[in-house]
Amino acid sequence: MDSLTSTANAKKTDGTPLSRETLTITDNRTGKSYEVPITHGTIRAMDLRQIKTDPSDFGMMSYDPAFNNTAACISRITYIDGDKGILRYRGYPIEELAEKSTYLETAFLLLHGELPNEKQLKDWAWHIGHHTFIHESIKKFLDGFHYDAHPMGMMISTIAALSTFYHDAKDILSEESRQKQTYRLIGKMPTIAAFAYRHTLGMPFVYPDNELSYPGNLLNMLFRTTETRYRPNPTLERALDILFILHADHEQNCSTNVIRGVGSSHVDPYSATAAAIAALYGPLHGGANEEVLRMLLEIGSVQKVPDFIKRVKAGETKLMGFGHRVYKNYDPRARIIKRVAYEVFELMGKNPLLEIALECERIALEDEYFVKRKLYPNVDFYTGLIYQSMGFPMTMFPVLFAIPRTSGWIAQWQEMLLDPEQKIARPRQIYLGSGARDYVPIEKRS
Ligand code: ACO
Repeated sequence: MDSLTSTANAKKTDGTPLSRETLTITDNRTGKSYEVPITHGTIRAMDLRQIKTDPSDFGMMSYDPAFNNTAACISRITYIDGDKGILRYRGYPIEELAEKSTYLETAFLLLHGELPNEKQLKDWAWHIGHHTFIHESIKKFLDGFHYDAHPMGMMISTIAALSTFYHDAKDILSEESRQKQTYRLIGKMPTIAAFAYRHTLGMPFVYPDNELSYPGNLLNMLFRTTETRYRPNPTLERALDILFILHADHEQNCSTNVIRGVGSSHVDPYSATAAAIAALYGPLHGGANEEVLRMLLEIGSVQKVPDFIKRVKAGETKLMGFGHRVYKNYDPRARIIKRVAYEVFELMGKNPLLEIALECERIALEDEYFVKRKLYPNVDFYTGLIYQSMGFPMTMFPVLFAIPRTSGWIAQWQEMLLDPEQKIARPRQIYLGSGARDYVPIEKRS
């Protein structure tokens, strides 16, 4: 045993081994043992590097494609217990926030760590409200998109383009600058989303109305036509606010990992957010809500659900809106969303696709294939039905995810920047390609 492990065999006076927060690893290639500290149930991957077969050996690494079991950061923002179906923002259960909070208050909580007092909330809402307008030039290049451009593509490019308007955003280590860009990003996301939507319809843009709530203003910019003053329906406004609360953060998911990774190069937050939106766009992540609706339309009727499930089990397709890397239990957000769905349907009429969705869920929750793999409905399973009933086209569904996730992304980006342990993200690889070989001139290649 080498010097690092001199205490590995320590015993209490009665001969029983000492309980220590360490892990002893024996390398059977060399017979050497190493003792590495365990903190918060985790060992540091760098502690493995000392494990070598000889001094010239690079040292041991851990291999974890897709980060299945690797913590890449310490975070104090969002807590998930996937087995128990628990989700908390800064310690507050998602169920309580969905019932009692608003999206803007929740965004403040995520970013500042505490719920705001009355004055803080008023100031916060004022600042967000006063950063909702976009430069007129942005409207011009939105005009350049084709009429059937996907709004997520428009969002990615337009948010990235904001960096060309706000040069102060490069000053990422200034708290004042970060605050300003936070107001801008949370304020402008709904405006850009609504303008992208109106562009696809060929309708004139509707400017923000600061008298309205955050979700109310979004509905105004999306749907106002000839009214002199748009008044959102309170049920739909609250439903959207709850959906925004539920989507605000979800710890180290694909897009959050992207904003942390891209942001670790110290690029401005608009470029980093654009990258996160791109990650969210994918059908395995935030694009799933759109895919769920396409799937329900493809199934077409309740009678055809068993056949579709058969195809899923044969590996021909996926049951979109089911399964989650972290939740191996009912996604707590899906439970709340199901309740919101019924409130919206009561007002707007039942979505005819609901019966198909419920049948998919019923069969899946009983079927061994899904039970064995712990596949439950995730956040995206019912959101599409709600959005459709509210009048949104399918392509807008992932956009309605990206708008509220912005606060979570920025909170995570900021936490990463201020964490002294974080550096530029740079994973290792296991190289299994060709060894060194001589260049072959083109005439000699077969
Ligand atoms: N339908 C059918 N089978 C599934 C599904 C599904 N939706 N999800 C997972 N499985 C199966 C896999 O084929 C695999 O089976 P196997 O063990 O026989 O190979 C097993 O369940 C484990 O799945 P993985 O793909 O290893 O799980 P992973 O954690 O990598 O993926 C993911 C999670 C991407 C969410 C996956 O469940 C999926 O593709 N779901 C559908 C898309 C979706 O709804 N995405 C939204 C997620 S929530 C969000 O991002 C906001």
